[in-house]
Amino acid sequence: MEPVRHFNSKGRNKMANIVVVGTQWGDEGKGKVVDLLTAKCDLVVRFQGGNNAGHTLVVEGKQFIFHIIPSGILYQHKKCLVGNGVVVDPDTLLEEIRGLNDAGIEVSPDRLSLSERAHIIMPYHMALDLARERVKGSGKIGTTGRGIGPCYEDKVARTGIRAIDLTEPDTLEEKLRTNLKEKNFLLTEFFGAEAIEVEPVLEKYLKMGEELKPYITDISIEIDDAINSGKQVLFEGAQGTHLDIDHGTYPFVTSSNPVSGSACTGAGIGPTRLDKVIGIVKAYTTRVGEGPFLTELNDKVGNYIQEKGREFGATTGRKRRCGWLDFVVIKDSVRLNGLTGLAITKLDILAGIEKLKVCVGYDCDGEMIKQRPTSLKRLALCKPVYREMEGWNEDISGVRKLEDLPLNARRYLETIEMTTGVPLSIVSVGPGREESIIIEGMS
Ligand code: IMP
Repeated sequence: MEPVRHFNSKGRNKMANIVVVGTQWGDEGKGKVVDLLTAKCDLVVRFQGGNNAGHTLVVEGKQFIFHIIPSGILYQHKKCLVGNGVVVDPDTLLEEIRGLNDAGIEVSPDRLSLSERAHIIMPYHMALDLARERVKGSGKIGTTGRGIGPCYEDKVARTGIRAIDLTEPDTLEEKLRTNLKEKNFLLTEFFGAEAIEVEPVLEKYLKMGEELKPYITDISIEIDDAINSGKQVLFEGAQGTHLDIDHGTYPFVTSSNPVSGSACTGAGIGPTRLDKVIGIVKAYTTRVGEGPFLTELNDKVGNYIQEKGREFGATTGRKRRCGWLDFVVIKDSVRLNGLTGLAITKLDILAGIEKLKVCVGYDCDGEMIKQRPTSLKRLALCKPVYREMEGWNEDISGVRKLEDLPLNARRYLETIEMTTGVPLSIVSVGPGREESIIIEGMS
């Protein structure tokens, strides 16, 4: 008798579900790559971070900046979801929804969902973030001041306010009164800051809850249903691997996990649902805020990159620190994220620099090491070991094929591919959607 063959409908017609992560300290240009990949997806999901992130996108010459809503919202038929792993400032979210509506892009609940379980950034989180940084003085982290850390602290302390609570007046009032007792004590007695009153906050957040209610849902179920019906999902990470609370340059990190594994916990799906992980590598390195940055350039070349690359934070407007590409950093990210492909961004910015350098290891007090030490004391003893490469002068923003790049630009890319062992998927040569080299087999 013929054996009975069982087919699993979940496996049939399977499309790739992709996670996009930053491999450095954020601001790698994820927004543009996510925008390109969105064309091939049905759903786009944010899974961590908050409005500390900022994506700048240029579409048909028009600039858009997003802090919470995935940039996929600019495509008419894509669904965007804000995961339970995100901390949400409802003021910012509503502002983004209104801004998009004003620009003629309708953001109905068919286009946007917010997880019931996402934690809400409250005014006391922002007040505590700013007060802590002030008290730390020169030892400050250089946070974005958006209340991200204090909000995640409350989540872990099990005192946080979740999106669903905004729709239940009694729950919100009870939590707010309890929380403010403790927060106001801290704010006034320890930090010498102003106390926050319950009533105006309650009124404002209930009102925002009403506005957001149509969007608030269980996104884990929504994603599961979408994948089961053969839809393709893009998971969009914020910040970068080296700002990861576990794996980054602690304590100079953010308070979430920007690594790819966090797409599972931050969206409510299992790891078997993920197929590809694309790491975004800026062709040089930048960092905002304090913390170790071994390949930082405090010279003319650093200024050239900062100015030409318009390296200002999309959220705070702060000047980004700039430096050479660091393979110790990138190779850590290959491992921590299980990268299957790389997207190189801002390659065009390096044109005009005669000699380029890439860091291939650290000299740590005489010992050559290939991994970043966990101890900041030991890291402070490290010096970057560079390999020098020839630069190129040509403007490459019009190039659409790898083979049309100047030889030295190709050599630079080959060095990245060879050193990381991860194939290139995309090379970005300018801010516009079309200013990209798309490499076959990308998805
Ligand atoms: P927080 O996330 O506001 O607590 O800031 C902690 C650190 O992460 C600071 O050094 C910030 O500058 C940095 N940071 C947070 N979000 C981003 C981002 O989206 N891009 C780059 N750096 C970020």
